[in-house]
Amino acid sequence: MHHPAVTRRRCLQAWALGAGPAWAGRGAGAAAPLTIRLSHVVAEQTPKGLALQRFARNVHAAGGGRIRVEIYADSRLYGDASEMQALQLGAVDMLAPSLSKFGPIGCPEFELFDLPFLFSQREQVHRITQGSVGRALLATLARQGLVGLGYLDNGFKHMSANRPLLAPEYFAGLRMRIQSSRVIAQQMRALGAEPVVLDFGETRRALALGVVDGTENPASNFWTQHMHEAQQDLSLTTHGWLGYAVVTHQRLWQHLQAPDRRLIEDALTEALAWGNTIAEQENRSALAAVQASGMTRVHAMDEAQRQGLRQAVQPAWDGLRTRIGPEWMARMRAALD
Ligand code: SIN
Repeated sequence: MHHPAVTRRRCLQAWALGAGPAWAGRGAGAAAPLTIRLSHVVAEQTPKGLALQRFARNVHAAGGGRIRVEIYADSRLYGDASEMQALQLGAVDMLAPSLSKFGPIGCPEFELFDLPFLFSQREQVHRITQGSVGRALLATLARQGLVGLGYLDNGFKHMSANRPLLAPEYFAGLRMRIQSSRVIAQQMRALGAEPVVLDFGETRRALALGVVDGTENPASNFWTQHMHEAQQDLSLTTHGWLGYAVVTHQRLWQHLQAPDRRLIEDALTEALAWGNTIAEQENRSALAAVQASGMTRVHAMDEAQRQGLRQAVQPAWDGLRTRIGPEWMARMRAALD
């Protein structure tokens, strides 16, 4: 049996050698069958896993079975590092990466969402994602040949390690696994920790082996990846947001007939709106499950502690201003005011 990373590499190589996307030989007629391969990195029982399953069911129902969405969850097909490349190459057709993962492919504007303590309520996030700033951000994906189809919530992130992380001094010297966002890297450095970019699918193992000491994620990801088995303390810092953008490639999008594009868009819009209604509850249930497991101590945070962390992470804001320019910051501010 091959290691999953080897299988993924072979998959990419096979595609590069000529095995094309499933839809490539398909006639352009609206009645031709179509399979859309959708890869993501989280468990099925998460806001993203559930919303994408609903999307697949919606497509199946609306297309009378002619269009199929095949979902590869939990990094089964590709991890963070390879999935964007796989989409560019046509080895998969759709992804739903977190907003923090678009920086490395040349869209650093998405790192706006990573600014620590930017949002204190989900409704503020929606003012961006459901408004003109959100649309403008999705449009930037065209630079990379991608089409942004919509946003999906997960929730607020918390910090975990084998110690409580309620004040900056507790971060000193910790190696913290992060997503591939420069803003999050700056946030961790500002707190005195060393950021380590790792694929989501490798994080639990890295925590268990002590390769990294801690990480940040909403409770739904923490619980479904069994991170509670490897982390003694979860501090409810709600310092940052985790959300997603569903993307496809222009190659597929332009290949589709307008009625199929509309069918897919409608199916996704409904599924994402539904996903946004369940995300908070999924995170609440996951947090309750972590607490009930008795394996991780859960620490609430008071306002003074929150203020202490907020002040410490200020350099991440300055860094983003430099990285993406003041215009996006101003647009975001205007949307939130
Ligand atoms: C995800 O929710 O898709 C993964 C988040 C992470 O990499 O931390």
